[in-house]
Amino acid sequence: MDEQVRRSIAGALDTAIADAASTALAEASRDWSDDRKGRELRQAFGSLHDRLANLEMPDYRHPLAPALYALWYHPFQVNLAYASFLRIAQRRGGRLTDRAALYVADFGCGALAAKFGLWLAALELLCDGQPAPRIGIDLIDDSADMVAMGERIGERFETLLTTLPDLPVRLPAVETRRINGIVDVNVPPDSERWLAALHAFYRPRQDDIRDTLADLYARITPTLGLLTFHRDNYGMAEYVSPFASDLQDLEICRLPLSGDLPRTTRRRQSWLQEFSIVERRGGEDRRRVQWAPVRGLRDNVAFTGAG
Ligand SMILES: C[S@@+](CC[C@H](N)C(=O)[O-])C[C@H]1O[C@@H](n2cnc3c(N)ncnc32)[C@H](O)[C@@H]1O
Repeated sequence: MDEQVRRSIAGALDTAIADAASTALAEASRDWSDDRKGRELRQAFGSLHDRLANLEMPDYRHPLAPALYALWYHPFQVNLAYASFLRIAQRRGGRLTDRAALYVADFGCGALAAKFGLWLAALELLCDGQPAPRIGIDLIDDSADMVAMGERIGERFETLLTTLPDLPVRLPAVETRRINGIVDVNVPPDSERWLAALHAFYRPRQDDIRDTLADLYARITPTLGLLTFHRDNYGMAEYVSPFASDLQDLEICRLPLSGDLPRTTRRRQSWLQEFSIVERRGGEDRRRVQWAPVRGLRDNVAFTGAG
């Protein structure tokens, strides 16, 4: 893909994340006093950062959690998913699949990082003259608000892409279905099935997650699994993975999107300044939002499993 096109797409996604998070934050806090806004923001912010830093599950039910997740974590998650799907295609001779359609069960889909990653990877393959399959994703998540956040970003992103003058191909359709863990075992002929779980492993629920993934695996018999997680979570990822000893490091050396997200950065900053929250941890200045933060690839990994 041409570097200029990639930059335009990254710019559209930056705008989509900033706009969608902004709307969600305004909606969630519409009837709150300034005092309450400050309290809730600090609480949601603390839960998200502190718990994720300790590999514990944040309170995703907090009304501000989805928007804060989008502003702080979504860009890197999308970039890692994008890199992972491109790497899988590279290993398969430049295609995601040889079949006409690809169905992915996305456990812990959250704000749809896997959907954005597949969208971008398919777009890149099309720009490079390769075919892309029809794509369907079954969305599995406890938090309907996290999923709604991803859908909101997706709608804005789709609209913005239609206005890009230099996009040589149309954004491929990626159909999503919200399900309650019950995936449809019947897919059209000439389809391939994958199982994805991106950064969705938490210690207090590891047995529950292990059982759900084992059940999904048994019902859809995926030919490929994609698992991403924090390096310190390696043991747990192995424990919950239904792919037995088949996990392989995807060996991603570089992420496709780089540089800053200026609109997402401004959105973050205006909220933090309003509530006097200083974002500096461990001596590291985290004010600028980057697609590929220094700690990203060092601290997080992507694995595939063969079914
Ligand atoms: C860190 S977010 C990751 C979201 C997305 N996969 C990504 O890469 O950005 C983890 C998500 O997993 C979901 N989750 C955690 N445990 C779950 C479970 N047992 N069943 C369904 N969803 C779960 C949470 O609600 C949250 O949206």
